[in-house]
Amino acid sequence: MPKPDATDGLDPKPDPREEQLTDQKKNPLEVSDAETSIPVEPQPAESLEDLTADVSPESQEAVQDFLVEAAQQNEAANDAVPDRKNKPGPYIAFEHVSKSFGDFDVLKDVSFSILPGETLCILGRSGVGKSVSLQMLMGFYKPDKGRIMVAGEDICGLKERQLQEVRRKVTMVFQNGALFDSISVGENVAFPLRERHDLAEDQIQQVVRGLLDMVGVAGMEDLLPSDLSTGMKRSVAIARALACQPEAVLYDEPTTMVDPLMGHLLGDLIARLKTQLHLTSIVVTHDMRFARKLADRVVFLHQGEARFFGTMEEMDRSDDPILREFLQLDELVLPV
Ligand SMILES: Nc1ncnc2c1ncn2[C@@H]1O[C@H](COP(=O)(O)OP(=O)(O)OP(=O)(O)O)[C@@H](O)[C@H]1O
Ligand SMILES: [Mg+2]
Repeated sequence: MPKPDATDGLDPKPDPREEQLTDQKKNPLEVSDAETSIPVEPQPAESLEDLTADVSPESQEAVQDFLVEAAQQNEAANDAVPDRKNKPGPYIAFEHVSKSFGDFDVLKDVSFSILPGETLCILGRSGVGKSVSLQMLMGFYKPDKGRIMVAGEDICGLKERQLQEVRRKVTMVFQNGALFDSISVGENVAFPLRERHDLAEDQIQQVVRGLLDMVGVAGMEDLLPSDLSTGMKRSVAIARALACQPEAVLYDEPTTMVDPLMGHLLGDLIARLKTQLHLTSIVVTHDMRFARKLADRVVFLHQGEARFFGTMEEMDRSDDPILREFLQLDELVLPV
């Protein structure tokens, strides 16, 4: 069901409180003590058993080795992010980013940041630039003004070849999965593994089967993407993203257009990947229950601006009328 426009039928008069900014918005790139205290505990390798509980015994060892390698690389990458004022710097940051398409200003001076291993949820009504923000992070669009930092590097001036390196670190799970239609599900997941040129065929097959088991689509490796439901395609897209051993994953509306059970499974999986693989994640979602479960911090986009940026608790305390209205409407449209 399409989400109703939050201003439909409501008084369009400007509310003076609309101009109030939260402390976070005034200073969105400062990382406060409270923010740096978010625990991102190193996980022992055994804890990956939880993540791989549904993997068949014959693939379990291969996929666990693969994930332990990914987790260790991510820990090292997170530690390598340059500090700011002797505190961990953000893994990803939008710094005063503006973007227009023709006369239409999609993003206006938008700033937010994500610490290594954190999950940020991007909230906002349809058309506010959530997907465009993710695509900018992948280097598909460049900002007109401002900087976009990934792992301490400004990606805006990078050439296509260098952007491909960034896309190895940061992968995106598109809403429709964006799988290669003409090759099997298994080959879709194997694709990044084959590109490494350091894995034997037997290892590739085991990791593929293990990842598919893990994301809840066991035994589907020989099907074509067109044989799968929307939720299954998204699960396969997550498996393919994990096969890249990324440092960060961007999810665009991972739980929309799937049934509640599938939505719950995907949500659970994303939460476990975050803690167990030290993945930095951005999740675009309309689903507040999902956001509450996952988000360390939230950015709320409205009319091109980052109207709120802060923790979930700060969001709940915010008296910004536009944000409150968004949250109230969201409660109305959520299925019980
Ligand atoms: N390549 C493009 N050329 C012109 N306009 C674009 C382009 N891509 C996006 N837009 C416009 O930018 C605005 C933001 O689009 P975006 O897809 O980021 O919205 P969104 O917040 O993801 O919405 P939804 O919740 O519906 O997915 C929209 O008005 C869209 O029409
Ligand atoms: Mg979108």
